[in-house]
Amino acid sequence: MSISMKDEILKRILAADGEAVSGQELADSLGVSRTAIWKHMQTLQEEGYTFETIKKKGYVLTGVPNSLNPTQIELFLNTKQFGREIHYFDVVDSTQTIAHKLAQEGAPQGTVIIGEEQTAGRGRMARMWESANGTGIWMTIIVRPDVTPQQASSYTLVVAVAVTMAIKTLYKQVEPAIKWPNDLLINGKKCTGILTEMQAEADIVQALLVGIGINANQVASDFSPDIADIATSLRLEAGEEINRAALVATILQYLEQFTELYVKEGFISIKALWEQMSCTIGQRIEVTTIRERFEGIASGITEDGVLQLTQDDGTIRTIYAGDIKII
Ligand code: BTN
Repeated sequence: MSISMKDEILKRILAADGEAVSGQELADSLGVSRTAIWKHMQTLQEEGYTFETIKKKGYVLTGVPNSLNPTQIELFLNTKQFGREIHYFDVVDSTQTIAHKLAQEGAPQGTVIIGEEQTAGRGRMARMWESANGTGIWMTIIVRPDVTPQQASSYTLVVAVAVTMAIKTLYKQVEPAIKWPNDLLINGKKCTGILTEMQAEADIVQALLVGIGINANQVASDFSPDIADIATSLRLEAGEEINRAALVATILQYLEQFTELYVKEGFISIKALWEQMSCTIGQRIEVTTIRERFEGIASGITEDGVLQLTQDDGTIRTIYAGDIKII
């Protein structure tokens, strides 16, 4: 994807790592006038970047906005494919909708769609997903794994493992736990939801649209009364501001790595990690599916990521989809 002149300037200033970057050198190397450079610097300031101008030396970066601008993400990115094409928007209805369209148009594996705000964020089971401006990470990743539609249902568990690993790597003080199939809880409250949608033909997956919603920098009063008691943010749990760009890049890195493993060896290669990170197995749970509600002990997951429930009469039920509550 081509990078704009403003982003190229930003990239060079970020790469200077606190050293001054000369306006004249930027102008010469980019083949534009000093005035053009100055105008781009003004725009960057309007976006929240702050600079000190040192006479005869140039611009020194003194502050960056906590933004998901692709240039910020790229700074932390160490992947081959994932995140190499990022579509970034201030406001979208849902990143899932944009991802569906881009996937149909042939967007490559690893394409990421990010919205700073979603006006119609979607959750599982047709629920809405609160996606206020600038506080969370609202993104969809297009993945094209070479698996059948049946196999693909376990991929969503792989995503939960990748996001958990990324959070644990950057914020060692928090301990996220996965509630089957793929909610991330911290201290019993939800901080992340994953919604995986599929474009497929009879036995080939065209694309998986992996929607990840992370409550990153909300404070308690940012949540609506509907979810205030059950939701939390990483910032509330970690006790520090979350660098969203670094977290996005780290998620993409783990997701690329686990996707390769999953395609080569199947879900079995990630099952043990999922089990270690899960707060579901061994618990008494209530399961709600489209048709019924029942309870029992979550006794394990299969090699395909399907949940097994041991009922009070000793019979084992397999749960392919549904919502669970730990009781
Ligand atoms: C859930 O737990 O119900 C899943 C929530 C998924 C929310 C994310 S935010 C980015 C992407 N776009 C959406 O509209 N939904 C997903």
